[in-house]
Amino acid sequence: MKAKITVHPAFTVGDVDPRIFGSFIEHLGRAVYHGIYEPGHPTADEEGFRGDVLDMVKKLGVPIVRYPGGNFVSGYKWEDGTGDKSKRPRRLELAWGTTETNEVGIDEFQSWCKKADSQVMMAVNLGTRGPEEARQLVEYCNHPGGTEYSDRRRANGFEEPFGIKVWCLGNEMDGPWQMGAKTATEYGRIAAEAAKLMKWTAPSIELVACGSSNVGMCGDWEAEVLRHVYDHVDYLSLHNYYGNPENDTPGFLACSLEMDSFIRTVTAICDYIKKIKRSRKTMYLSFDEWNVWFHSHGIPFEKWSVAPPQLEDIYNFEDALVVGCLLMTLLKHCDRVKMACLAQLVNVIAPIMTENNENGGRCWAQTIFYPFMHASQYGRGTVLDARIESPTYETRRIKDVPYLETCCVKNDGEITVFAVNRSLDEDLTVECDLSAFGADSVIEQLFMTNDDMKAINTADNPDNVVPEAGGDAKIENGVLTATLGKHSWNVIRIKLA
Ligand code: AHR
Repeated sequence: MKAKITVHPAFTVGDVDPRIFGSFIEHLGRAVYHGIYEPGHPTADEEGFRGDVLDMVKKLGVPIVRYPGGNFVSGYKWEDGTGDKSKRPRRLELAWGTTETNEVGIDEFQSWCKKADSQVMMAVNLGTRGPEEARQLVEYCNHPGGTEYSDRRRANGFEEPFGIKVWCLGNEMDGPWQMGAKTATEYGRIAAEAAKLMKWTAPSIELVACGSSNVGMCGDWEAEVLRHVYDHVDYLSLHNYYGNPENDTPGFLACSLEMDSFIRTVTAICDYIKKIKRSRKTMYLSFDEWNVWFHSHGIPFEKWSVAPPQLEDIYNFEDALVVGCLLMTLLKHCDRVKMACLAQLVNVIAPIMTENNENGGRCWAQTIFYPFMHASQYGRGTVLDARIESPTYETRRIKDVPYLETCCVKNDGEITVFAVNRSLDEDLTVECDLSAFGADSVIEQLFMTNDDMKAINTADNPDNVVPEAGGDAKIENGVLTATLGKHSWNVIRIKLA
């Protein structure tokens, strides 16, 4: 099969905000405890943070990490996770049915983020709490000193403010599973009031309002919430997870088209509210929960235990292809999607897995680690407005699914072509005229493929599914040609003259 990509220097989508490569750590399962934090682990530092995990997080290059939830945040008292560790309360955690020890809180997490070369995206509890507690947390984190909460931070050993820039106004407040779930009007009002108090406390912060919990709930919620918060917030969130429970791989590989349509729909709702408000402000999007999530559904755990394994999806090769397609989709909307969080980062629906120290304490990369790492490494720059001609196929839900999914990003003296060939049977020869950019030569072609779509990495076999370098990509007279193997993820880096 053959496909063609058309790009031109005059046509761009926009510049990528690096925060599109964000991720998420929730107090859930083994994300925090036995994940990022495990005092006693041979690689743990003086604060108890695992060095092996930090090294892998740095390889991914995650500029922002959402915290502490997720559903968890909607019952959270942020004060529990501050100050003297020996005095912190253990609490029933109602979102996930566990016991929270509060050994880690914002005091520790902001320090971990610095070590990870990242920033905190802090969520406030608008489920069981309200604007005043949210405002107090902003004061604790960002006010220099001389007031009750800022002085509490200083007394806890942090003279300098944490300087947290991005704040989420609650989490999935439309979901009946959420503690303190709300109607759109109830949420819109409380979010607007919280936003005012938080910005009055620290004017330079940026705020994210909750969009709907998933594409199936999207529509009226966004419109009503935006009517209340439009003037007070900077971003609207989107959440969605994808899966292959029916083992329909061609259909699963097409799910990025559903993400594309979700982003377009939410953008249209934002612009509709902009119009009726006669506003000059553009609402940006924060796709702050996205990933594949279905493998772990229904796996039991011991109720009220501390940090049990929960949501530990073991990702296979086809999941990596889907994550690659989803990343390209986010990049192709970089004019509106400024932030996105792969949910989550360690152990819980995550690219990085760990064993608890008592079980050997190893740490390894799941299949989805690699497309994320590639996109984060090479996808920072200007996204080109590419048009494709590709053969298509039909799934149960979508009529014309192109076999080729691609995204081209130009950065310092390079163009990177990311591409997935969705075909399970045939290679795809791709051509792209890059002469107007002065394409000189192929720096490298990286690819991931596997005969077994269900192949996985494990602690014992961590390199079963990894990228390889090679391929036949070449530039002749400024024209790129490359073979994309059947069911493959590809990264073709081109040097510009
Ligand atoms: O990421 C796992 C959960 O998915 C989050 O806690 C919640 O926000 C979403 O439903």
